[in-house]
Amino acid sequence: MRPDGYHELTTVFQALSLRDTVTLTAADELSVSVCGEDAASVPTDSRNLVWRAAQAVADLTGRDPAVSIAIDKGIPVAGGMAGGSSDAAATLVGLDRLWELGLTRDELHRLAADLGSDVPFCLYGGTALGTGRGEELVSVLSRNSFHWVLALAKTGLSTPDVFRELDHLRDGGDPPRLGDPEELLRALAAGDPHALAPLLGNDLQAAALSLEPALRRTLRAGVTAGALAGIVSGSGPTCAFLCADRDTAVSVGAELAGAGVSRTVRVAEGPVPGARVADSDTSN
Ligand code: C5P
Repeated sequence: MRPDGYHELTTVFQALSLRDTVTLTAADELSVSVCGEDAASVPTDSRNLVWRAAQAVADLTGRDPAVSIAIDKGIPVAGGMAGGSSDAAATLVGLDRLWELGLTRDELHRLAADLGSDVPFCLYGGTALGTGRGEELVSVLSRNSFHWVLALAKTGLSTPDVFRELDHLRDGGDPPRLGDPEELLRALAAGDPHALAPLLGNDLQAAALSLEPALRRTLRAGVTAGALAGIVSGSGPTCAFLCADRDTAVSVGAELAGAGVSRTVRVAEGPVPGARVADSDTSN
C-alpha cells in the first residue's frame, strides 16, 4: 500500500456499452436528481460524485455551482461498474460546455483524478492501460468489438474492504500476482476473444471471492453457459464474462438470468467512447 492509502496497480480498462444520461441545466443553485433503475439508492447530495464534480469545476473557475444535474441511470447501481465515476466524468465535460470554459485536457484530467481513481478513464473511454492508482492512462489499441455479459451480484462489496482483504491475504501468503500485461495487450490488438479469454485475470478476484464466496458459483455458471472466461470485474461484486460473439453473449446472458445467481444481467460490447456531449449544449 502507498503512504496515501491507495494501491499501486496496473489495470486494463475497457469502456462498455452501458450508459447513464446526465442532463445539466442552468439553475439558481446546485441540485442533483436521479431516475432510472435503483435510483432511490443513489444519494442526491454531496455524497454523489457529480455534486463534487460541479463544486470542483466551480472552485477552479471561481463561479457558483449553479446547475441542476439530472441523472438517468442505465448503468446498474452499486455494482462496481463505475457508474458514479462515469456520471462525474460526464458532469466535467458537460459543465465545460455549458459554462463555455474551454478547459484543457490536462485540467479535465486533474479534476477527474481528484474525484476518484476511475474518473479519468471515464473521460476517455475506449481501452486503456492504467497505472498509478488507476488514473495514469495510456490508450491501448483494440481491434473489433468484444462481447461481454455482466452479472450483478445481489449484495454489494465495498472497494476499500476488498483492497484491505487483498492486503490481508498477501500478508498471509501472497496469492499469485498477475504478470506483465503484454500478451493481453497483443490479444486486444488482434481483436481475438479466444486469445484474450485465457489471459483475463484480476488480482482483486481472490479478495472479492474471500469476502463473497457465492461469486464462485456465478463465475462457474457463466462458463457453463458458454462464456469463454469469467472474472470478477474491478473490486466486484460484478462478474464479467467474455463471449465469442454477440449471439453467444445474448444466450449466456439469458441462461445466467434464469440461473438466479445474480440481481441483474446485462449484455454489452466494448470498447465504446467515454463521456461526451450528446446533442445540445445542456446535455451530455
Ligand atoms: O479513488 P476511489 O475513491 O475510487 O477509491 C476508493 C477506495 O478504493 C480508496 O479509498 C481505496 O481504499 C481503494 N483504492 C485503492 N487503490 C487504488 C484505487 C482504490 O486502495 N488504486
